[in-house]
This record gives sequence, C-alpha cells and structure tokens, in this order.
Amino acid sequence: MIAAMSAASRSKAARAKPPAAPGLHQQLPELREGQSVALLQELHILTREGKLNQDTRRKLKQVYHLVQFIEPLLDEVMREQGEVTLADHGAGKSYLGFILYDLVLKPRGAGRVIGVEARSELVEKSHALAQRLGFERMRFLAATVQQAMDDAALPERIDVVTALHACDTATDDAIDFGLARQARHMVLVPCCQAEAAGVMRQHKALSLKRTPLAELWRHPLHTREFGSQITNVLRCLRLQAHGYDVTVTELVGWEHSMKNELILARRMVDDRPGQRENARQRLLQVLDAFGLQDLQHRFAV
Ligand SMILES: C[S@@+](CC[C@H](N)C(=O)[O-])C[C@H]1O[C@@H](n2cnc3c(N)ncnc32)[C@H](O)[C@@H]1O
Repeated sequence: MIAAMSAASRSKAARAKPPAAPGLHQQLPELREGQSVALLQELHILTREGKLNQDTRRKLKQVYHLVQFIEPLLDEVMREQGEVTLADHGAGKSYLGFILYDLVLKPRGAGRVIGVEARSELVEKSHALAQRLGFERMRFLAATVQQAMDDAALPERIDVVTALHACDTATDDAIDFGLARQARHMVLVPCCQAEAAGVMRQHKALSLKRTPLAELWRHPLHTREFGSQITNVLRCLRLQAHGYDVTVTELVGWEHSMKNELILARRMVDDRPGQRENARQRLLQVLDAFGLQDLQHRFAV
C-alpha cells in the first residue's frame, strides 16, 4: 500500500510543472520600475541569462543605499535651477554614476553626470557603455581630480560632488574641487588615508613626550586607524570653515568594509562668519594638538 501510494505520488510529481525560475523582481526586490536591465547586465550585476551575480549584487545594494541620500539632493537642485550637474571623483567603473543616471536623471529628462577617473581604460569603457545605452548626459574624464580642477572644459558650476572610496588623498582633492566650484552638496565616503598616519609616525617619539594623547597612536595599528579618523575630523572642520553644514553617518549595507563613513556636506546660504571662524580655529588647534601642522596645506581654509 505504502509502496503503491509513493509510486502514485511520484508519477503526480513527474506530471507537475517544475517550479518557475524566480523573476527578476523576486531576485532583486530593490529593482525599480523602468530600470535598465541592459545596464545591470553591462555592469555584470546580472548575467546574460538574467541571473543575479551574488558578488556584484552586494555592490548594487551599496550603491542603491547611497542613491537614497543623493536622489533628494539632485531633486532639490533641479527644483531650484531646472538642471543639475554631478561630478563623481575616483569613479572607477562608474557604478554610482550609471545607477544615478538610470534611476534619477533619465526619468526626469534632466541633469548631467561627469565621471572623473585616473585610469583611462576604465574611462573608455564607461564612455562606450554610456553611448550604447543612450545615456547622453553622461561624460567621463580620464584625469586625476587635481587635473580636473584646471579643466576648462568642465562646467564652472558643479552642484553635487561625490567621491566614493576615492583612494587616499583623492577625497581631499575632491573637496578642493567642490570648494572651487562652489558645490551645493558633497557626498564623500573616504577610503583609507595614509598621509596623516605618516606624519604621526614621523613625530611619534616627540609626541609621546609632549602629550598623553599620543597614546592614541602609539601602536602601529592605532596610528593607521587614528590617522584615518583624525583625517575625517579635519575634513569636516575644513568643510564647516568653508560654510558647509556637515553630517557624518554610517553607510549601512557596507558591512564588509571598514570604510563606511559617509560625510554629507551642504553649503549654507547664509554666510555665518562666526561659525566658520570657529571651525577654522578648531581645525588649527587640532592640527597643533596632534602634531599635524605639516598638513595645514591639505586642510587649507
Ligand atoms: C576603490 S576605487 C572606487 C571606485 C568607485 N568610486 C566605486 O566605489 O566603485 C578608487 C578609484 O579611484 C581612482 N583614483 C585614485 N586616485 C585618483 C585621483 N587622484 N584622481 C582620480 N581618480 C583616482 C582609482 O583609479 C580607482 O578607480
């Protein structure tokens, strides 16, 4: 009896349809209406067969998370000016620029993205991809951020500056760029920064004699970590001294990365000279307290 029932259910199972392959929206609930599947394939987030690539899926989730912060800034500028220009520094493969264009600028029919990237082969690929997809208001510059500073072909006004894990001092260069172009918003996720740690290492013995605070960077691991931390503190003070309101938060969804600090800076319309001067003074005091005077040029106000 039991054997007969199992045979029956086996044949029923054989007649039943195989379970349907999960649709794209099931695989990727974050997918938005109208989002370009071709783009996701080109970025290797989807395979040619339309399956999710688990490694790059993580990248997509991270970029989506960042888009949540940037989308309202783009909308705000577009509401006021009817246009918006975003420059993404250290763009790499331009995941951020492409996804922002596809999700935000393409549906609105306005807004430009400029990707600045030192590696020309990545720039060529991004350029070709933008052409294939018809993303007309995207362009790419094969240059360092410093070179982009003096590029007369770039628009004088850049409204939003982003730098996502731009290496080492490239984040500081992106801040220079944003200040020079009077960016309304800067969205920065700094990478590791070695310069401050180098200066601290150089003056360590003297600092240990001078102040108990030097215990914060006595051990090499602490020198590296504290060097990064103090760099971000100085970046915030510098932005404040230039009249920006600064928010520091965590880039959730970046669990696998130690570098998940997100700095959001908004240029204030009122001049607030008192607050700016206060931040400037604080910046100089911090440089002094931590023996980082050599870096005054880096955090120039
Ligand atoms: C860690 S990758 C991040 C890429 C991209 N932003 C992302 O998150 O996928 C850093 C990129 O910054 C570029 N880069 C480093 N220093 C730069 C500089 N001074 N100017 C322009 N690009 C730079 C590197 O070539 C690299 O592609």
